[in-house]
Amino acid sequence: MSTAIRAEGLTRTFRSAAGEVHACVDVDLTVNPGELVVVRGASGAGKTTLLNLLGGLDQPTSGRVWIGDVELTALGEDDLARIRRENLGFVFQSFGLIPVLSAAENVELPLRIAGDDPTDRNARVAEALHLVGLADHAAQRPGELSGGQQQRVGIARAIVARPRVLIADEPTGQLDSRTAASVMDLLVDLVHTRQIAAIVSTHDPLLVRRADRVIEIHDGRVAPALAPAADVATPAAAPPDAAGAGSAAAPAAAAPRTRAEARSRRGARMDG
Ligand SMILES: Nc1ncnc2c1ncn2[C@@H]1O[C@H](COP(=O)(O)OP(=O)(O)OP(=O)(O)O)[C@@H](O)[C@H]1O
Ligand SMILES: [Mg+2]
Repeated sequence: MSTAIRAEGLTRTFRSAAGEVHACVDVDLTVNPGELVVVRGASGAGKTTLLNLLGGLDQPTSGRVWIGDVELTALGEDDLARIRRENLGFVFQSFGLIPVLSAAENVELPLRIAGDDPTDRNARVAEALHLVGLADHAAQRPGELSGGQQQRVGIARAIVARPRVLIADEPTGQLDSRTAASVMDLLVDLVHTRQIAAIVSTHDPLLVRRADRVIEIHDGRVAPALAPAADVATPAAAPPDAAGAGSAAAPAAAAPRTRAEARSRRGARMDG
């Protein structure tokens, strides 16, 4: 299976008056199509830094990122903007919708920027809104929608251009737990049915449980017990344990061999 996104030796050091901050240290990560990876870690651990680097929103101090065969970290500004537009969708904690535009207009924005044909745009916007269950709310502005609905618009906007990779930084951070769970279920469903590779940061244990794989970040580093085993032994998926912690990684022998197996186990857990 071809890799959707890959990072090697990703390192980001911030220099401030207080000294150097090692926000991301030598991170290797590979995410396959149809796989949802949750990045977990305490506040300040480096989740946003890592996601920004993976999405080409920030440049690493060292290390490389590839989207498919294209090295993101080797591109100039214009090519980077184009590759991002064509391959990446972003979902933000604060939704990031434009208040004066309707839900449909917000979703349409990336297609407009890409210069897509208007007829094609309308069909794709309608499809995206339908996928997130908001076909009947296309004309409403963000202020006329609930938080969960606003984030669904944010998700529709992120997927409307059919990205290979979805990056979501605490997408449910502003939602109550019930709404958060339904938004996360939607993300998981979209990722699996549309074969998107997703990297989602969250603190929420309920959401961590829905991941195909969990990586834990401490002080900018991937916690050693989790990442290498998950990356090397089970590229398809290694779901966290039922406690939702994903702590200390499931033993390699217990890891599912296929995503379908992972999904069915996850299903069993949710039913039980
Ligand atoms: N632009 C910057 N300049 C200096 N330091 C920064 C900058 N951005 C982030 N940092 C530092 O890098 C570290 C990681 O920050 P980051 O925002 O990635 O954490 P996080 O895991 O996303 O936290 P949270 O859960 O609170 O969002 C922190 O110590 C932070 O203060
Ligand atoms: Mg953050």
